[in-house]
Amino acid sequence: MRENSNLKRDVTFVDSKISSIQRWFPYLEGFAEDFVTNSIDHLKLTPEFIYEPFSGSGTVPIFAAKEGIVCHYDEVNPFMVSLTETKRLVLSLNKKRKELVAANLREILVNYQAKIKKSLPDKTLDDTYKNTFSPSIYFYEDTYQDVLKSKTFLDQQEGIESQLLNIAMCEALLPSSLLKRAGDIRYRKKPNEINQITNFIERTERNIKNIIEDIENIFDFETDFGDISLSYNSKHFKEDLVGKVDFTFTSPPYLNGTNYIRNTKLELWFTGKLKSKKDLNFFRQEVITSGINDVTAVKKEILIPFIEEKLNDKSLWYDRRIPKMIRDYFFDMKIVFENVYSYTLKGGYFCIDIGDSIYGGIHIPTDKIFIEILKELQFKIEEVIILRKRKSKDGSPLEQLLIICKK
Ligand SMILES: C[S@@+](CC[C@H](N)C(=O)[O-])C[C@H]1O[C@@H](n2cnc3c(N)ncnc32)[C@H](O)[C@@H]1O
Repeated sequence: MRENSNLKRDVTFVDSKISSIQRWFPYLEGFAEDFVTNSIDHLKLTPEFIYEPFSGSGTVPIFAAKEGIVCHYDEVNPFMVSLTETKRLVLSLNKKRKELVAANLREILVNYQAKIKKSLPDKTLDDTYKNTFSPSIYFYEDTYQDVLKSKTFLDQQEGIESQLLNIAMCEALLPSSLLKRAGDIRYRKKPNEINQITNFIERTERNIKNIIEDIENIFDFETDFGDISLSYNSKHFKEDLVGKVDFTFTSPPYLNGTNYIRNTKLELWFTGKLKSKKDLNFFRQEVITSGINDVTAVKKEILIPFIEEKLNDKSLWYDRRIPKMIRDYFFDMKIVFENVYSYTLKGGYFCIDIGDSIYGGIHIPTDKIFIEILKELQFKIEEVIILRKRKSKDGSPLEQLLIICKK
């Protein structure tokens, strides 16, 4: 194919406009779409069916949809799924529909503060807050009332506008709360952290304005979308994917990484996915065990190369849940790798963005352990690329790598 530099520049320009929609709900753990594109270019591939087992904010499915590539994705966090689906829906609208959505959102903004203030607080949301979080308090009382009233107003909206307003509100929850993101979420302690608490209604208004601006910027973007399907849990085997996938690209949860469910507990509560404490337990069983809080009593047996002896030496671990967490993590990941192997057609690629970790001075070579498991499953390791050098909490050197393997 002949290169056309002008066309290329246009595409890049449109792409940057489209990727601005990532700001609707910035996801710290997400990777950039460029990373996916560059990896595909590096491998000189033209994928026809992409699988993403840990989709997060939907970087891979959105990329696939735009490129007209068929895609299946899994994501256990229903809030992240609704975020992905809303973004995908917006991109799929024709120019006329996008103009209408932007106009309807502008209408919502008229006297927005007054409309919220005169709404009644949502009783169900109040009940589920108490059932899920009591006795913890995550908002100042006046902010809490604004959140409950906003939910009532939200429920009166319809269609894609309501989905977009929902994202605008969800993005505003954490910055308006007594919590903040610092790795995982925690209470704000220092005066400057408390001073940074934003006004929930104003933050939502700002978010709606951003969404309108971003939609206006992509009025002219119309494309034939690739088919997208989704399920939730990548540990669950999907018969209908067997032998169909030629490219899997993912960044799985890191061992002892962030807790994806707890970090979005306010959004999950606001969107009705957390109604009581037992819902948190449900998600604990669904996720890949990657943090100490995910460890369940379920016995998971697997021999872990390189560190098996250390895992069995009780004297090395200050908390006996840690070796169990590590074993459970690789057990769960092996299930996903087995699934990916079945889904992949011969010659298909599987790329994993991963890093190693350290516990009380004990190094866990996650990448090397993954490679052993992948080889055991008959994947061929094609390349391992160091993406960046990292540092653990104790200052020890760690790495982030891209493992590229082929069936
Ligand atoms: C590192 S993040 C992925 C970020 C993604 N690459 C992006 O660009 O937004 C890992 C994701 O895996 C999800 N996850 C954890 N266990 C899962 C499971 N069993 N099935 C599907 N998704 C899971 C988490 O909710 C989290 O969103």
